[in-house]
Amino acid sequence: MGYEIYLAVALSYLLGSVSAAIIVCRVMGLGDPREGGSGNPGATNVKRLYGNKPAAVTLFGDMLKGVIPVVLAYQLGFSNAEVFVIGFAAFIGHLYPLFFGFRGGKGVATMMGVLLALSFPAGLAVVATWLFVAKVLKISSLSALVASLLAPVYIYFIDAEMSWVIGSAVMTLILFWRHRSNIQRLLNGEESLIKKN
Ligand code: G3P
Repeated sequence: MGYEIYLAVALSYLLGSVSAAIIVCRVMGLGDPREGGSGNPGATNVKRLYGNKPAAVTLFGDMLKGVIPVVLAYQLGFSNAEVFVIGFAAFIGHLYPLFFGFRGGKGVATMMGVLLALSFPAGLAVVATWLFVAKVLKISSLSALVASLLAPVYIYFIDAEMSWVIGSAVMTLILFWRHRSNIQRLLNGEESLIKKN
């Protein structure tokens, strides 16, 4: 592989830059999710501000941004490590979108999409962890923090592919960084619950 990996990474980053939350809200005539609620352009904040329907479309769109590059990269014959890097570029695009002033989301749905496409059982375990914590504690950010923390562990035991274990741990670190205001609110006991306010 030569220039192809760079091209794939660039295209994946551009796809990741397509913020589902901002586009869905614009198309449905709603406000910019970055201007209300937590200010995060993600499914949780869209649900908080505008309800289930736009949130579900946002979630689907943001997950798909992780799935598509990984599936295509597999089909094009990239190595396991390269496939991860290509998926990672979509994650970074979601966080720092070229098309929206580099003001993106926190990466939970896109990370899940990447993991589901990389390793369906490990991705499913991450999604199930998110759902379980969300069901019990009803806090989206905490569910994401717990699920992402376990992602490298699941990948280690299910796939034993070290480039993915290390790569997903890096993703988790970045995801924690993006959730620093949530972590502060959690520590202060002020984090909002998953519900339409
Ligand atoms: O997916 C983002 C979620 O973990 C937190 O969202 O809006 O509560 O900051 P929010």
